[in-house]
Amino acid sequence: MIASSAADRRTVLVTGATSGIGRALAGALAATGATVGIVARDTERGEQAKTAFAASTGNKRVELFTGDLSSLASVRRLAAAVAEAHPALDVLVHCAAVYTPRRRPTVDGFETMLATNLLGPFLLTNLLLDQIRAARSARILVLSAPSTIRLDFDDLQAERRFRSLTAFGATKAADLLFTFELARRLEGTAATANAVHPGLVRSNLMRGAPAPLRWATWLVSRSPARAVESILPLAMAPEFEGLSGRFFHRARQIEPPPYTRDPDIGRRLWETCAELVGLTEVFSRTMAQDSKNGLGVKERPDEG
Ligand SMILES: NC(=O)c1ccc[n+]([C@@H]2O[C@H](COP(=O)([O-])OP(=O)(O)OC[C@H]3O[C@@H](n4cnc5c(N)ncnc54)[C@H](OP(=O)(O)O)[C@@H]3O)[C@@H](O)[C@H]2O)c1
Repeated sequence: MIASSAADRRTVLVTGATSGIGRALAGALAATGATVGIVARDTERGEQAKTAFAASTGNKRVELFTGDLSSLASVRRLAAAVAEAHPALDVLVHCAAVYTPRRRPTVDGFETMLATNLLGPFLLTNLLLDQIRAARSARILVLSAPSTIRLDFDDLQAERRFRSLTAFGATKAADLLFTFELARRLEGTAATANAVHPGLVRSNLMRGAPAPLRWATWLVSRSPARAVESILPLAMAPEFEGLSGRFFHRARQIEPPPYTRDPDIGRRLWETCAELVGLTEVFSRTMAQDSKNGLGVKERPDEG
């Protein structure tokens, strides 16, 4: 149980709040009394979720931010709206993700799973770093899975060869690499970044997967509400404050696949993402050392 007195001063942002784990988590966060920003790609579904949270928890401080994580322009608008509404962000939880059985390019020409599951969260996080660093001790959580799939940096967009489950698994490994690299870059600041494996959870995520796989996983899956019982403390409980660069499952630390811990691969992925989303690394130092200048990455001057 999270004490509402501590929680109700906090501002949290949850992506993927219209379904599955994100929806259950946003509801649980609203119940703590915190100010909860929910991100939805569809305004109607977002309004519906917001109304439901307000009705079930009595919390009037639930705010809807519309944004499509697969579109860089939309993520930029989303980040600007959040930054304008909240000068400080205590908790950012990335729950949004998608699985597509066929290769689909986004409006920016990226493969959809890579864009939604990695590039959008990468850009959103970077654009909100000032708000994250303005909080007393911000926590960033990235929902992922213990994927052992290695990234093919020569074909990140799966243009040469697309196998849907492999491409999806690669985005989950990439989420781990991104989180651990982010944690390294946040060292020396009060902000932390951790990855979370929720276990198998009944949700809409694999609705496009082959039926036998869906049935088999459904049988052994937990409800989103059960999964959230061990995710909520990672976002709010004092005992997890200050812990960073970890991988949690059921609120216990687990070992991630060794590949995802490799700092050289993490740095390479970070630089590749920065290039793809139009952020440029302006400092080789860590963000902590760079306190005078604020962000460790910033937008390219010509891309506004
Ligand atoms: N379920 C599991 O067994 C499991 C296991 C391991 C890890 N995870 C991870 O847990 C996280 C949550 O998954 P879930 O199972 O709760 O999935 P889910 O029920 O499919 O929810 C995904 C959420 O992401 C949103 N979303 C999808 N594309 C988006 C986009 N382009 N822009 C903005 N939002 C978008 C969806 O919005 P709509 O409602 O509009 O579709 C939905 O709210 C994911 O990172 C997943 O990889 C899940």
